[in-house]
Amino acid sequence: MTALAVFSRSSRRSGRSSKSARGAEIRLEHVSKRYSGSKAAAVSDLSLTIEAGEFCVLVGPSGCGKTTTLRMINRLTALDSGEIMIDGRSTLMTTVTELRRGIGYVIQEGGLFPHMTVAGNIGTVPRLLGWSRGDVKKRVAELLELAGLDLSLAERYPAELSGGQRQRVGLARALAADPPLLLMDEPFNALDPVVRERLQDELLRLHRELAKTIVFVTHDVDEAIKLGNRIAILRQGGVLAQYDTPDSILARPANEFVREFVGENRALRRLALRRLDQIDLAPAVKAAAGLPTVSSSATVREAVSLMIETETKALSVVDENGEACGSIRFDDAARLLR
Ligand SMILES: Nc1ncnc2c1ncn2[C@@H]1O[C@H](COP(=O)(O)OP(=O)(O)O)[C@@H](O)[C@H]1O
Ligand SMILES: [Mg+2]
Repeated sequence: MTALAVFSRSSRRSGRSSKSARGAEIRLEHVSKRYSGSKAAAVSDLSLTIEAGEFCVLVGPSGCGKTTTLRMINRLTALDSGEIMIDGRSTLMTTVTELRRGIGYVIQEGGLFPHMTVAGNIGTVPRLLGWSRGDVKKRVAELLELAGLDLSLAERYPAELSGGQRQRVGLARALAADPPLLLMDEPFNALDPVVRERLQDELLRLHRELAKTIVFVTHDVDEAIKLGNRIAILRQGGVLAQYDTPDSILARPANEFVREFVGENRALRRLALRRLDQIDLAPAVKAAAGLPTVSSSATVREAVSLMIETETKALSVVDENGEACGSIRFDDAARLLR
């Protein structure tokens, strides 16, 4: 069952709205910040519009102002000048409490309260909102399921969990009051590569199913390209170097800084962004043609790799039932990059 099905079914059961809150639009307008005692700006005249439901990644080298930018959105850090609007309303027009009720915040290691159980951590906001004990309990159970955690973990303390589990609890806690916006600050950094990749995949799935707006900070450009619909690349001083889709950033780095930051193999990395079922394929060829087959869920990069391995210039593409649904030639892949 999908996470959304779980989510809506159990939401109905608990008598709450069966539809989760949609994403919010964030607009940063000429936002600047300089910490007192420091000469250089942490963020300089940053303007950025993040559309509702978007997965926006802020990426850049250490110290370039990513965390500061994120924390200005939920007012953990005060801005010096400019304005931040959420759904058209300045963040200064509401109380901090009301503002943060609509924003889930996830940091490395989940930022959990060590003296509280998993259930206690996840239920924090619903309890503050005055939900009944029964409703809080139900919500905790559905969030554990949503975050891919076993119900039996509810009474454990954070120290009794793996890093990946702690991060899942942090995400569940951030989603507890169903906020339209999630801010995530390098949440997966402390995890080993396998767990990290799994959590990235699950976050993508949650984003598709819950349609929240996510602003995700990382210094890892590959993580940014994998997760973001849109990527804001920042450079020292919180200066915006480029704001665009992953494909456009790889295809046309706006300047030398971006080109260098993004790194090598841009063409192959662009091909990895597209699955065969997302592109126009040439008509299916007869099985008798004897071409090697590739699944339509494979990326174009994987298809090209297979052509090189099998020394063929074309592949037959098959759908999940194993039926031929098209074909791809080497030239078609190259043409996608134009
Ligand atoms: N509380 C603070 N007081 C003074 N300077 C700070 C503070 N927090 C961050 N800075 C400085 O502001 C700049 C941006 O920091 P930060 O937003 O944490 O960058 P990033 O998250 O991209 O690594 C850095 O030069 C950092 O040293
Ligand atoms: Mg940071």
